[in-house]
Amino acid sequence: MDTVQFFDTTLRDGEQSPGFSMNQGEKVRLARKLDELGVDVIEAGFPVASAGELESVRAVAAQIQRARVAALARARREDVEAALAALEPAARPRLHIFLATSDLHLQAKLRISRQEALDAVSRWVRYGCEHCAEVEFSAEDASRSDIRFLLDVMETAAEAGATILNIPDTVGYSTPEEYGAIFHRVRSHLGRRDEIILSAHCHNDLGLAVANSLAAVRAGARQVECTINGIGERAGNASLEELAVALAVRQSFFDVRTNIHLEEIYSASRMLSEITGVSVPPNKAVVGANAFAHEAGIHQDGILKNPLTYEIIRPEAVGVPARRLVLGKHSGRNALRTRIEELGYRLSDAELAQCYGAAMGLADAAKDVTDRDLLTFVHQARRGRLAPNVPGESDAMAAASKIQ
Ligand code: KIV
Ligand code: ZN
Repeated sequence: MDTVQFFDTTLRDGEQSPGFSMNQGEKVRLARKLDELGVDVIEAGFPVASAGELESVRAVAAQIQRARVAALARARREDVEAALAALEPAARPRLHIFLATSDLHLQAKLRISRQEALDAVSRWVRYGCEHCAEVEFSAEDASRSDIRFLLDVMETAAEAGATILNIPDTVGYSTPEEYGAIFHRVRSHLGRRDEIILSAHCHNDLGLAVANSLAAVRAGARQVECTINGIGERAGNASLEELAVALAVRQSFFDVRTNIHLEEIYSASRMLSEITGVSVPPNKAVVGANAFAHEAGIHQDGILKNPLTYEIIRPEAVGVPARRLVLGKHSGRNALRTRIEELGYRLSDAELAQCYGAAMGLADAAKDVTDRDLLTFVHQARRGRLAPNVPGESDAMAAASKIQ
């Protein structure tokens, strides 16, 4: 069975969207989590963007030993040199060079001819291969490019030494049938070149990023580019958790395997929300608060008799704590700590005390304290936005601690 490689671009495409920027320490922390999650490639950033960005990519490259670390560069000298400098400490570096190939981008944005584009691809991919063990080439806006020109570009990049050829649906315009057809065309044009991996990179402008990526896998793509929680430019990139779980749950249909450790998915999603302060919508597939919640009586009845009636994914399989904990005004600090740890957070005593005070305040207003409330308190405590003085836990409360 073939393996589909996961190329995570949370730290690059994800990070460059509004509200998601991360500092060096945050990038390194998330990169370690991505490594634990089993992603094959971590795209750490776009080093030419700023000195700080270059240092962040360098710090990630120095820390990560197992996964490959990629750095993005346009097909021009200053970008390639910056990316190579950032990748210098990497155990397994990948230089990722891109150039737009649609006439719209060539004419309106880059103001170069097709021939000039071909020359730039050839020159900078070749140069990259002389200085880095592995080079990926991306044809930006590939899905809106003239297919014959795209084939020429792919051929040129392969001739220059790129072994990963990425075919982005940069503006999320394609449909699954169209996108899959491009992969068939590129694969048959390149012929039998076993060293070449075709890669899918999809944006979600029409809500099709995951469907398009899966269509590419069906058509022979063996790398998918994605982000945690589907963050990324505009409506985002294909979501890593949705892709990984779809390929696992429907493995007999797709007939491929991945290296993703599914049980790390939930905590990776939570870590990203915690770092950026942006939570996922409750109805988000796989990691949303309601993804494994059942309220309707008929569904609850079915779940109690056999979870398969209404669940196609076991919550524990993706690291979602299966046990439900009802937190109310009789709950104790220990129950609160346990639940918060199940949600993927380890708090200091002071942070826990603040969350406890906030939770008790809410419970006193005669409300159950939900996971979403807890996550809000955790994020606020981490950002110093909760009152430090909180009521003590009474013996009666401690005795009444309960996990249901
Ligand atoms: O969406 C896109 O085309 C990109 C490339 C730089 C890979 O992010
Ligand atoms: Zn992109």
